[in-house]
Amino acid sequence: MVVSQEKRATRVGREVLQNGGNAVDAAVAVAFALAVTHPQAGNLGGGGFMLIRLADGTASAIDYRETAPQAATRDMFLDHNGDYDPKKSRESGLAVGVPGTVAGLALALEKYGSGKFALANLMAPAIALARDGIPVEDELADSLPRAAPRLARFPAAAKIFLQSNGAALAPGDKLVQADLARALETIARQGPRAFYEGSISQRIVDSVREAGGILSREDLRDYRALERVPVRGSYRGYEILSMPPPSSGGVHLIEMLNILEAYPLDRLGARSTALRKTIDPEHATPAGALRAGGPAEHEGDHTTHFSVIDRFGNAVANTYTLNLNYGLGLVAEGTGILLNNELDDFAAKPGAPNAFGLIGGEANAPGPGKRPLSSMSPTIVLKDGKPWLITGSPGGSRIITIVLQVILDVIDFRQDIAQAVSAPRVHDQWLPDVVTAERGFAEDTIRRLEALGHRLYVGGTWGSANSILIAPDAITGAADPRTRGAAAEGE
Ligand code: DON
Repeated sequence: MVVSQEKRATRVGREVLQNGGNAVDAAVAVAFALAVTHPQAGNLGGGGFMLIRLADGTASAIDYRETAPQAATRDMFLDHNGDYDPKKSRESGLAVGVPGTVAGLALALEKYGSGKFALANLMAPAIALARDGIPVEDELADSLPRAAPRLARFPAAAKIFLQSNGAALAPGDKLVQADLARALETIARQGPRAFYEGSISQRIVDSVREAGGILSREDLRDYRALERVPVRGSYRGYEILSMPPPSSGGVHLIEMLNILEAYPLDRLGARSTALRKTIDPEHATPAGALRAGGPAEHEGDHTTHFSVIDRFGNAVANTYTLNLNYGLGLVAEGTGILLNNELDDFAAKPGAPNAFGLIGGEANAPGPGKRPLSSMSPTIVLKDGKPWLITGSPGGSRIITIVLQVILDVIDFRQDIAQAVSAPRVHDQWLPDVVTAERGFAEDTIRRLEALGHRLYVGGTWGSANSILIAPDAITGAADPRTRGAAAEGE
């Protein structure tokens, strides 16, 4: 079973499984395909996390998060008055981290692939999709008009994604990415180092520098994807595997589950431990009582998560991103590769919120070679020692509460996976001091939360939690209905 945010990429993964590949082989093929068919977030020029759990019990977290260039400094996103300038961290070449995706996928394949497929085999479908083109439809058609002004700032991007009059490609048009096809062919032929050394890396460096960045050839040359030990926890007899730092997701997820475990959520009551005692069941805690901070800005919605399980019982949860919609919007001239603006995930200055309203401190300050903190939380839940739920989502800071709610919905509320993925979501991230809820909660629930003192904002949708639930008698894939074109395929 493969569940991804774009149906062609899902099909590519399924075919790898049908041809005897394992879940890691399929995941690598899906990731390269999404870089072509889902350019909003699928990428070569960004980074992410792949959580792998093999049937033999081995588990690994591949960290292919972007790194800051060696020339990065703590104050790199401040203006001459020492004030935070979000344009620098979101809209200029300074925002670009060293891309990790190609190294991460190659590492995953080398260590955990079946050995039956070379990288070039798994990249072939992506190359064909880039060269032959894909129809502009579904979320691609929805997102391009919104991104057009940002893509228009960079001629190499405009040439690919916009018409000559500056309007976005529209339904009926075809997205052909000839330069990207050639870059992919080069990597397929010469191996992943071709991305980090040689002409592709030179073009990335040139384009980033022209956009005001500080990336160097050495930064690319020295990039390494890393293997980390997944964080583990338990919840009502299930085992939780999730992403360790530089993701904040796994740690938060397990802490929230540990707290919630004492509540019979399906009936609601309470026991307490130290942290639980800080929860006042009668009144909302004002965020100001916790620590001071500033307001949040509007969320983005452009990361992508996919889940894979193979017939052998190997499972993969992968979340990767360019950060915002089409990343910086900058394409490295002649490569078709869109570049990230991931370094906005650093805390540019203590107290200054990033694009997701997150406020950080010294530990997440920009610095040479550092990986910015992330919310991406690919997660695998085990039951009786076997993969049971594979999940994750885009959504910036909301990713963590999305994953939490999918887990609670299936375990505590006994929903099937399609219900759990579709169910309306609620989110609170400390600051801003507001609970956001998707439409669909009972009026009564909203009013009761308000009566407790919560400030509620109801509206919008977020996330795309493409998930898989593995029961003894059936494997069910659930593509999130919030984004057009997501698809689950299996047999
Ligand atoms: O790593 C992170 O947490 C963010 N860069 C993810 C961005 C994201 O999910 C955008 N989509 N809403």
